[in-house]
Amino acid sequence: MWDNIGSPFDYIAEKYDEDFSNSLAGTLQRNRVWHFLKEEIKAQKPLHVLEINCGTGVDAIWMTEHNCEVWATDVSANMITIAKSKLRDNSAVNCHFSICSFNQLEKRFEGRKFDLIFSNFAGLNCVDENEIRKLNTAFFKLLNENGRLTMVLLGKNCLTERFYFALKNEFKNANRRYSVALAKLTKDVLQPTWYYHSLKLTKLFSSFVLIRKRPIGLFIPPSYLNLWLNKHPVITKLATWLEYTIGSLPIFADNGDHIYLSMSKKITAK
Ligand SMILES: C[S@@+](CC[C@H](N)C(=O)[O-])C[C@H]1O[C@@H](n2cnc3c(N)ncnc32)[C@H](O)[C@@H]1O
Repeated sequence: MWDNIGSPFDYIAEKYDEDFSNSLAGTLQRNRVWHFLKEEIKAQKPLHVLEINCGTGVDAIWMTEHNCEVWATDVSANMITIAKSKLRDNSAVNCHFSICSFNQLEKRFEGRKFDLIFSNFAGLNCVDENEIRKLNTAFFKLLNENGRLTMVLLGKNCLTERFYFALKNEFKNANRRYSVALAKLTKDVLQPTWYYHSLKLTKLFSSFVLIRKRPIGLFIPPSYLNLWLNKHPVITKLATWLEYTIGSLPIFADNGDHIYLSMSKKITAK
């Protein structure tokens, strides 16, 4: 079907919503992100948002329904094709999808200023520390003085994952987030993945100050446990309840499947 295969994620774009966005764990984790993100975007005036690694556009379209105009980008042409196909008249006006990799952002949006830069679900885990340092500089230039940088990345110490693999006696897998991993997108397509601790990210984004960090998926497990989750509705309910209670504590930010981080620009002395 696709003739434009350039990024690893091009290979899974077509099934991404079915396998992740519309799955039970994916939906529950995204709802949790939106729960926190709502706080960031409740402003009087419409916010201008630069979304990076937007995938199939689920968050971009949601943000346009919440008082935002969104410039949503992704390196995968196939992800962007799917995202564009979801645009309806009301979202089309405030949602601008385009193909753009992280290292093209600064040039592509040169001279523009945004109120929010948003990255959801592990796009930033696809790059190493050096790339993150470069993005620190780019994001600083692209944000307004009062702008926010909000990111959701895979953390290093996901307790449900460790527990799951330990139960299966797979101790190597239980510790897999401690080194660079090759995530299997398909049988033949691998994506190098760097896992980050929130303290490391705070250091790498040295031009920013941390405002808020929370776990995403402290009790709601990673999406590869979807089948299991679907078979156990009572446990799913309990996990969701725990997520919205204990899972609100910043102290557990690094123990979920993902970490939600929100930062503001450091004010430089004039
Ligand atoms: C796991 S998906 C998340 C998609 C979307 N944010 C969501 O919430 O469903 C990660 C996305 O990061 C994108 N990505 C990976 N490396 C990238 C890069 N260097 N520049 C831009 N996007 C990138 C991929 O194409 C993919 O769409």
